[in-house]
Amino acid sequence: MASLLQQFQQDGYLVLENFNTPAECDAVMQRGEELASNFNFDGHPSVFQTTDQAKTSDDYFINSGDKISFFFEKDAFDTTGKLKGDLFHSLNKIGHGLHDLDDVFNAFSRSPQMKQLAHDLEMDNYVIIQSMQIFKHAKIGGVVDTHQDSTFLYTEPDTCIGFWFALEDATKENGCLWAKPGGHTEPLRSWFRKKDEGGTEMFILNEEPYSMEGMIPLEVKKGTCIVLHGLLPHYSLPNTSGKSRQAYSIHTIDRTATYPKKNWLQRDMHSLKGFSK
Ligand code: FE2
Repeated sequence: MASLLQQFQQDGYLVLENFNTPAECDAVMQRGEELASNFNFDGHPSVFQTTDQAKTSDDYFINSGDKISFFFEKDAFDTTGKLKGDLFHSLNKIGHGLHDLDDVFNAFSRSPQMKQLAHDLEMDNYVIIQSMQIFKHAKIGGVVDTHQDSTFLYTEPDTCIGFWFALEDATKENGCLWAKPGGHTEPLRSWFRKKDEGGTEMFILNEEPYSMEGMIPLEVKKGTCIVLHGLLPHYSLPNTSGKSRQAYSIHTIDRTATYPKKNWLQRDMHSLKGFSK
């Protein structure tokens, strides 16, 4: 039987059922809701205020690496800039420093089973560089277009590995992940990076379009962990169902790889920790 590492290297992803208990998933969801309820919405850069809206929200995003920041669904606001629904159900995600700043997220990110998995995948040199709680609320949760995670966590050589934890059942109806088995052998298409003059850009590395052929739905139960190779093309559809599809994800890189200063996400690399608390 192939080892986990061999299977991961062959397919570019792993689906690990019953990785977390329902209670562990519930604790993270409850904490996310608490953080959202304490979040001061007044003056948030996602709310249209000035003609410099794009720059304001770009800056908020770029500076979110070592913070707990809140991001809205693009359809959350009406034409006058007011939220159409309640605040919690208007959120797309919270990120990107949850794993370092919050005890509940830290415990989930560095659980005993996570330490074991990192060991099995020979990730001794890896650090957790970002985390996100992704809400994908019923009816409003938006599409995530096909991408490779290494686009957003570019290293030389390529080392990014993502861990996507289903906090609730993920189905085709509520917007589960879709991925292409073996697709991680394709080249990296683009690099999301900072521009010298400020702001960000999607810098094209390879023009080859993604082929949707061979994409399969990863329908998983609450408590499942999906491991994603940084080069594996994947996407998720909008949640048009009546059931939310909350997930938590962390992204990791090898600390010995080169992490360019142009990357959108800049952290103090010396302060980043692996899977020990
Ligand atoms: Fe992704």
